[in-house]
Amino acid sequence: MRFPEDLLWGSASADFQYEGGFGEDGRGVITQDFVTDGSVDVPRMMTYRLPDGTRGETPARTSMPKGAVGDFREGKYYPSHQAVDFYHHYKEDIRYLADMGLNCMRFSICWTRIFPTGMEEKPNKKGLDFYEAVVDECLKYDIQPLITICHDELPAYLAEHYQGWMSRVTIDCYVKLCRALFERLGGRVKYWLTFNEVNILNGYSHLGTTDCTMAATYQCAHHMFVASALAVKLGHEMMPGALFGAMYAASPVYARTCRPQDVFAQMTIRRRTLFYIDVMARGEYPVWQADFFKDNGVELVIEPGDKEILSQGTIDYISFSMYRSTTCTADSELKMNVLSFDPNPYLEATPWGWTIDPLGLRYVLNEFWDRYQLPLFIVENGLGMADEPDEDFWVEDDYRINYLKDHFKAIKDAVELDGIPVLGYTMWGGIDLVSLSTGEMKKRYGWVYVDMDDKGKGSLKRYPKKSFYWMKDFMKNGSRTPLNS
Ligand code: BG6
Repeated sequence: MRFPEDLLWGSASADFQYEGGFGEDGRGVITQDFVTDGSVDVPRMMTYRLPDGTRGETPARTSMPKGAVGDFREGKYYPSHQAVDFYHHYKEDIRYLADMGLNCMRFSICWTRIFPTGMEEKPNKKGLDFYEAVVDECLKYDIQPLITICHDELPAYLAEHYQGWMSRVTIDCYVKLCRALFERLGGRVKYWLTFNEVNILNGYSHLGTTDCTMAATYQCAHHMFVASALAVKLGHEMMPGALFGAMYAASPVYARTCRPQDVFAQMTIRRRTLFYIDVMARGEYPVWQADFFKDNGVELVIEPGDKEILSQGTIDYISFSMYRSTTCTADSELKMNVLSFDPNPYLEATPWGWTIDPLGLRYVLNEFWDRYQLPLFIVENGLGMADEPDEDFWVEDDYRINYLKDHFKAIKDAVELDGIPVLGYTMWGGIDLVSLSTGEMKKRYGWVYVDMDDKGKGSLKRYPKKSFYWMKDFMKNGSRTPLNS
């Protein structure tokens, strides 16, 4: 059996890891702009300058490892500012995807390119022009754009003045952003994601609040649920036929032993992730979450009308990232929703300790389909490795080819043997980009090598790797390409 003809295959990215163009054409400052390459200490406060020259001060995000953030100080390196400069390379990059025969590109919107502080009444025309040009460039090659409206970031202004997602002001600003995007891009973009990895809410940079208590984080999540539901409702009204999903970090969790306590712990830990999908796909809070909130002193402020909004804006499909899996016992420590990633003796891991688990991908597809019966879109997967180019910038990345073969086989089995409707697969960072967790350039995922190092030095030239040609052949021959058994 071949993969379904209409399955979408592509590359995925996030603006602050890929786009660059910092301060250009009126772009305002986002929370992620303060994240350094990890080489400076965390200051208590960060200062920033808006494109109009005014200065502001905002607290450092608190959930990043020490040394991960800084202010805009001379001599410090901020990867998001240049990233790998998609802003000026988008035509070339999209041409590479087209050359491989891909038919999808996932990218995210830099919120402050459209609303520099989040608060403006009118969108920045140049920001919308850029994303429209990107969409049109994709469509020129029959590449479907898949847009993440908000990928782990927030206008710095909303963080400083409103504590980000703690405030309902941010809901209004988000809906305003959505309206501007739908007005400009509606009819040309079918697939939308309201939020990236909404189940991993990592303090300041994602949420814009310095309050990292569980109560605050779930309050932010509630506001994001409302914002997402309003966006879905608005999007359905303004763009008939458009499909909305939200994205979840779906790393499977396995019980480490068959001790019933460990197996029960696996179930309750998994619910920390499933909770987010339950709310967004079913439109209501699951009953068991009330007990969890009670035990953890979480008292949500839910405004009249919120429950109705949630039920009216449920998602059309479920998308997720799946890089690795982990194990747990009844004693595992769960920090918010993030389980420390314990090694699994049955799996190999990357140099960054991420386990490689293709069967885990099939497991998640089955888990989500059994539970929700909604189409599934794998919007992030891939292998982060320190590629070693030769003097001609050629990368012999057989390890990536093998990784993809194994994961594609898992998808094929899920479609063919388990009957799961898979909408598509977008590999993370098809053109190399900056790592989210470490700020490194060294951790590369792409089919295309970008000549840039951890400090942003290099020509930024693009060079196809060996996996580029493998993927091109895969796209041409579909499942006839030999897959590992
Ligand atoms: C996902 C994020 O969690 O993982 C991406 O949505 C991120 O933004 C990706 O880049 C891979 O993580 P890392 O840390 O290797 O870049």
